[in-house]
Amino acid sequence: MKPAIKLTDVGKDFGGTGGKPKRVAVRRVSFSVYPGEVLCIVGKSGCGKSTLVNMMLGLETPSRGSITIDSKPNSGHHRPVAAVFQTDRLLPWRTVVDNAALGLEAAGVSKRQRHDAARPWLERVGLETWGGHYPHELSGGMRQRVSICRAFVLQPEVLILDEAFGHLDEVTAQQLRQDCLKIIAETNTAVIMVTHNIAEALATGHRVLVLGKPAEIIKEFELKAPGPGERKVYPALRDEIFDLIEKQSEYTA
Ligand SMILES: Nc1ncnc2c1ncn2[C@@H]1O[C@H](COP(=O)(O)OP(=O)(O)OP(=O)(O)O)[C@@H](O)[C@H]1O
Ligand SMILES: [Mg+2]
Repeated sequence: MKPAIKLTDVGKDFGGTGGKPKRVAVRRVSFSVYPGEVLCIVGKSGCGKSTLVNMMLGLETPSRGSITIDSKPNSGHHRPVAAVFQTDRLLPWRTVVDNAALGLEAAGVSKRQRHDAARPWLERVGLETWGGHYPHELSGGMRQRVSICRAFVLQPEVLILDEAFGHLDEVTAQQLRQDCLKIIAETNTAVIMVTHNIAEALATGHRVLVLGKPAEIIKEFELKAPGPGERKVYPALRDEIFDLIEKQSEYTA
């Protein structure tokens, strides 16, 4: 099986021009994620996680190495990599259904087709009656459901969850995570979950990568458990990962 996404020796520097010192944001990272697999990435604040995410989304260009995405030809409007971020990033002047279908607009899809594509996803997350409402009428958890829909509407091969459940209360986060994992399994999507929550990584991932600072993989854990959602958190592993992350020094350029 081919990986959905493969990073080979990816690095990123900032600065180095206009008298600004060069800062290494990502030192060297290589990994592959396969369809249906959930890879969790944890690391200290400022270690380069968001920079990695931006490179995978094509928003930043790597200074070194390569990123390969196995983009399958698909019926029409799909994007190979989609992301859900910590804040929902919904447009307040657009209805729920128009927000969910936002990514299709850039692809030139008609309004009717956009709505037809978004509605089943809204239904899937229990928001079928909310399509005509505006984001300010929704709770934080409901808004995050809309941004999850917005990602799945694009039928991505790779879904990046960048602290996507981080600001929700524990019960809502747990529910949303479970719903998301069900969809991921059904759609065979490759998932990269960036999280500061070690327990979340251990409860959700098939694998956990621990990053040093600047980003490089300092340890990889393969989790042998019945399946996502059914696991208990492993206290010893959690402590081990915590120690690994804590030991990473503050970076000075
Ligand atoms: N556009 C940029 N220009 C210059 N430096 C940047 C830029 N984006 C990020 N950096 C630097 O790269 C390093 C990594 O930042 P990044 O945002 O990727 O960290 P992070 O792991 O996502 O942190 P956090 O967990 O706090 O979100 C930091 O030193 C940051 O200052
Ligand atoms: Mg970040």
